[in-house]
Amino acid sequence: ATPRLIDPFQRAVTYLRVSVTDRCDFRCVYCMSEHMEFLPKAELLTLEELDRLCSAFIDLGVEKLRVTGGEPLVRKGIMTFFRAMSRHLGSGRLKELTLTTNGSQLRRFATELVDCGVRRVNVSLDTLDADKFARITRWGRFQQVMDGIDAAVAAGLSVKINTVALKGVNDDEVHDLVAWCGERGFDLTFIEVMPMGDLGNEDRLEQYFSLRDLRSELATRWVLTDTQERTGGPARYVRVTETGGRIGFITPLSHNFCESCNRVRLTCTGQLYMCLGQTDDADLRAVLRKHPSNDAPLAEAINRAIARKPKGHDFDYSRQAVSGQVPRHMSHTGG
Ligand code: GTP
Ligand code: 5AD
Ligand code: SF4
Repeated sequence: ATPRLIDPFQRAVTYLRVSVTDRCDFRCVYCMSEHMEFLPKAELLTLEELDRLCSAFIDLGVEKLRVTGGEPLVRKGIMTFFRAMSRHLGSGRLKELTLTTNGSQLRRFATELVDCGVRRVNVSLDTLDADKFARITRWGRFQQVMDGIDAAVAAGLSVKINTVALKGVNDDEVHDLVAWCGERGFDLTFIEVMPMGDLGNEDRLEQYFSLRDLRSELATRWVLTDTQERTGGPARYVRVTETGGRIGFITPLSHNFCESCNRVRLTCTGQLYMCLGQTDDADLRAVLRKHPSNDAPLAEAINRAIARKPKGHDFDYSRQAVSGQVPRHMSHTGG
């Protein structure tokens, strides 16, 4: 039987999110500050090291690999990594190879991704308004992302749209987003904004839009039915009768889902974060480099890290204050 990574709360870790770069071609206002300092390239794991590390996780029972960033598709040579990971799909040990992207480079890479066994992409898109899009991303071109999404569809990829719900920013567009995704057959997932990165606490509170409220708003216009369907991540889905589409809700603030957590995160420098909402990490790069031709110490280090996986995050906005904030930016671990 496949070895399993079991944490102290009896949760099996079967989902690895791997950030392949901290860079991004956009600077979404809630995610990064305008002038981010990026890591020197020499700090990054090489593509070979990424392969070795991810393969070690797959050997230990990881079945789902999601490539993130920053923007994963701006990492040089990234298709070499996808190609390498596709061998684990071939062997049947990896069940899903996928990515979360801002969509800007999909036109270039969609076909190749399909060729590497990717079936589905999650595309971050917070608005359907080109001017607003440029403001949120600071300089992103909306049309470039639309072209990317079209290319993904043409290549045969399923598309899921990720929208961070932001009061006063996109709360006036939630129905339009449901209709737009419904017409195109895309799943749509709303996400509550989490206090990660030092962007000013007042803003977080001001922008926080509870998905309980968002769901009530949607229910004024659409018939929503709960489903038990899952996609392996934290979203809970409803079916929209009028469009036949699905809407997911990722609710770290209004409804904590840590109890069913199945994932850990690897940064582009080989640090393993056992929880998105905590600061504890394990330096797997050091182990990897110390033992270039022996994977046993790596497996041990991974097991030791999983044994430290915490119960959950401590994010909290109740009582008009932010607590449980994590200083590192979301882009560090790719959400
Ligand atoms: P599916 O495979 O489609 O289920 O994807 P996913 O939701 O696992 O991945 P995606 O990258 O689309 O995640 C969307 C967002 O959900 C992330 O960027 C985070 O903001 C949030 N999220 C994902 N996993 C976690 C988690 O473990 N904890 C918390 N608090 N938020 C998470
Ligand atoms: N809170 C919630 N989601 C965030 N994302 C980035 N920063 C935050 C935050 N502070 C989302 C992006 C993308 C995903 C990878 O993470 O919009 O969809
Ligand atoms: Fe898992 Fe931590 Fe996310 Fe909770 S916050 S679901 S424990 S990674």
